[in-house]
Amino acid sequence: MFSERIGGLAGDDHAPLYKQLQRALREAIQKKVLGPDDALPAERDMAEEFNISRITVRKALDGLVSEGLLTRRQGAGTFVAARVEKSFSKLTSFTEDMISRGRVPRSEWISKAMGAVTPEESLTLGLSPGTPVFRFARIRYADGAPMALEYSTVAGFALPSAEVVGVSLYEALEATGHRPARALQRLRAVLFTAEQAELLGVPVKDAGLLIERRSFLPDGRAVEVTQSYYRGDAYDFVAELNALS
Ligand code: GLP
Repeated sequence: MFSERIGGLAGDDHAPLYKQLQRALREAIQKKVLGPDDALPAERDMAEEFNISRITVRKALDGLVSEGLLTRRQGAGTFVAARVEKSFSKLTSFTEDMISRGRVPRSEWISKAMGAVTPEESLTLGLSPGTPVFRFARIRYADGAPMALEYSTVAGFALPSAEVVGVSLYEALEATGHRPARALQRLRAVLFTAEQAELLGVPVKDAGLLIERRSFLPDGRAVEVTQSYYRGDAYDFVAELNALS
């Protein structure tokens, strides 16, 4: 039984019942009794098992959904969120990040083109006006679920053509000897626009993370600037911090 699996409600404390259920679920997730993508029983069944009202169950789940611990999939139910933990200090590609977590990466192309650098790009990439660049826009998936929208601009010297980029941009750059060696990354919270929300299959104004990466070759030349709009419920950024000695 689910209630036995997650250890039941505390019963002996005075916290509201929805909070007790939240605590039990949170602990089960932390202790990995419940794993990523595990389905929770239907609200009605949980209400019966825990002997609480369905409204109480809903209230408990709503809170955990907004904390990002659970996700609701339309028509399918409530699941433990399958967050991807991303270490901030390694210069890896989306494809590598997903594979190392046992997930299958896939991209859907929105556009792939060559053009001339815009004034803004020429500043970020340090290229002179008019220099050719490649632009790539993609929806990035893990195990079939949309994770991020990515808009990349790559310096023209780094690739022979836009067509050589298949699943992985970094793989294509590596093949030409232009894989970035260093990057500056900045992160900020965003609310998805209607267009972005539709592409990612999330509600409009849902919270997301914008990560902008500007990456450089060993010789210091900038090679890529990418804006990635990650679904807020899909990514966790983990930074390892060391005390200065
Ligand atoms: C991450 C980075 C992007 C980079 C991308 C390359 O998502 N934030 O800056 O362009 O990885 O990934 P891939 O090689 O899978 O195309």
